[in-house]
Amino acid sequence: MSLEQSVEALRYLGLFSNLDASSIMSTTVHALRPEDRVAAARILMREKSISGVPIVDADFRLVGLISVSKIIEALADGRLADSVDSVMVRDVISLHAHDTFETILSCFQRFKFGRFPVVEEDGKLVGMITDTDVLSAIIRSFYSVYVHDQRRTITLGSFSALSKEFENSADFVYDISCTGLENAGEGSARLKAFLQTKGFGESVVRRASVCAYEAEMNVCIHAGGQGSLRAIARNGEIIVRVEDEGPGIENIDLAMKEGWSTAADAIRELGFGAGMGLPNIRRFSDHLVIMSGKDKPTKVEMIFLESKE
Ligand SMILES: Nc1ncnc2c1ncn2[C@@H]1O[C@H](COP(=O)(O)OP(=O)(O)OP(=O)(O)O)[C@@H](O)[C@H]1O
Ligand SMILES: [Mg+2]
Repeated sequence: MSLEQSVEALRYLGLFSNLDASSIMSTTVHALRPEDRVAAARILMREKSISGVPIVDADFRLVGLISVSKIIEALADGRLADSVDSVMVRDVISLHAHDTFETILSCFQRFKFGRFPVVEEDGKLVGMITDTDVLSAIIRSFYSVYVHDQRRTITLGSFSALSKEFENSADFVYDISCTGLENAGEGSARLKAFLQTKGFGESVVRRASVCAYEAEMNVCIHAGGQGSLRAIARNGEIIVRVEDEGPGIENIDLAMKEGWSTAADAIRELGFGAGMGLPNIRRFSDHLVIMSGKDKPTKVEMIFLESKE
């Protein structure tokens, strides 16, 4: 599938709806001041492998941008010792922190630049978005969030982001069955012991069992307590899949947000329901696919690579 088709597919599936500029921008910004020399911009671009440097005033408000082509011009004219101010572009096309993914995409399509500064209402520079940031966001959406209705089938055909391995067998199988919180977490504790016997390193085992625990607890707390926890552990790779029969997650984008939870007060009093389970799974896994939908089963598949330690 080409990049354009992927973008169309994701747009169709509504998966961009919760991505805004602030969630995809990089916040490590290398900026210069107008009085800095053009030579400094050239050095910064080479050292940081970037193709444009935002220029800010004393309050970090965006006042200009200097691109590689401006550097090349300045080089040809022998103006490397001049101030950035004399060669920078002043009417910079920038994005706002709350701009939607659609706006960002159309900005890239329309202006054909490789990067855009992101500013807040008062003009303060808060980040940069490059075409690579956009591509990463697309790939993350493509692989991590799915809806479970016919739109998916129409758009993605038989494409499945889930591993095929589980169709035949699994190395570890545990049937989740908990009433209330009784037995909750037992499956992930067993998985941990199993992975240790397989000779996986301590750190990858910890990541896999913590994430398995979060997914298992979600089955116990949000999905009636019945489900399965399976794993395939071979060749330095651990694939964990946790499944249940519903009621499903209506909006996966929302569920992935830190602090978002539908847990009842009684559950919160027991110390659950901080809305941190799924965000932690995303953080600690190397690859994550969630398939769910309203009144649908939920499948959470996570991959952990020993080589990523
Ligand atoms: N297997 C599931 N079935 C149905 N809904 C789920 C499932 N897993 C997660 N959810 C929904 O996603 C929300 C977020 O899940 P997450 O694990 O991030 O937080 P939480 O379980 O509410 O709190 P915490 O994990 O911090 O105790 C849940 O509140 C619930 O609405
Ligand atoms: Mg949870």
